[in-house]
Amino acid sequence: MKPHLLLPALLAVPALVAAEPLVVTEANVRTFYRDFTKLTKTPEHVRIGGGAGSVLCRGAIQTPEAGAEAEKKSSPHLGSVLYYANPTANGALLKPGDDLPEGSVLVKEKLGGKGQDAVIEIGGMIKRAKGFDPANGDWEYFFHDSDGKLSTGKALSRCADCHNAAVNDHVYAAWRFAHK
Ligand code: HEC
Repeated sequence: MKPHLLLPALLAVPALVAAEPLVVTEANVRTFYRDFTKLTKTPEHVRIGGGAGSVLCRGAIQTPEAGAEAEKKSSPHLGSVLYYANPTANGALLKPGDDLPEGSVLVKEKLGGKGQDAVIEIGGMIKRAKGFDPANGDWEYFFHDSDGKLSTGKALSRCADCHNAAVNDHVYAAWRFAHK
């Protein structure tokens, strides 16, 4: 290649490199997904524990029995959720059966408050590069609780334990809400 052709070729390389992997922090956890596709148009009411397996994705609730107990004590609205997906995840959700590609991000907001319009907690899963955590489908989980504490990594193995039982690539319900 002639030298004057080399420079434009090198400049074109960054455009081919994938975007930086997402890092969720306490500073961005409530905002980074605002431009994602809102999978659910209105809040979905999910049951906590028991039943068809719908649960509030909260660490303390690890068994259907504990979930049913929590449900008895809680307000009937506690399980209202909104789902979001980034474009990579949304495109893949249209094809259930395929694993989601690296860079897919799914976010679940838990709503509460009087008008069910306050975001109380946020749970999410990020598909990392192959080899990140093969036993758990290379998904990384994060959880932002109502006290503003962000948990990530090994502290959230319970998320993975339960999501590993989902039929398609560790994702339970989001398949139903993908947008064309
Ligand atoms: C006991 C089982 C269980 C545990 C533990 C659990 N989840 Fe879930 N998760 C579900 C089920 C069932 C759904 C679908 C229904 C719903 O929204 O509750 C779901 C839905 C989700 C979704 C939307 C994508 C999807 O799978 O449809 C995200 C994101 C999510 N969970 C994150 C988390 C995080 C983060 C944790 C840990 C803090 C966690 N989950 C713990 C069972 C669980």
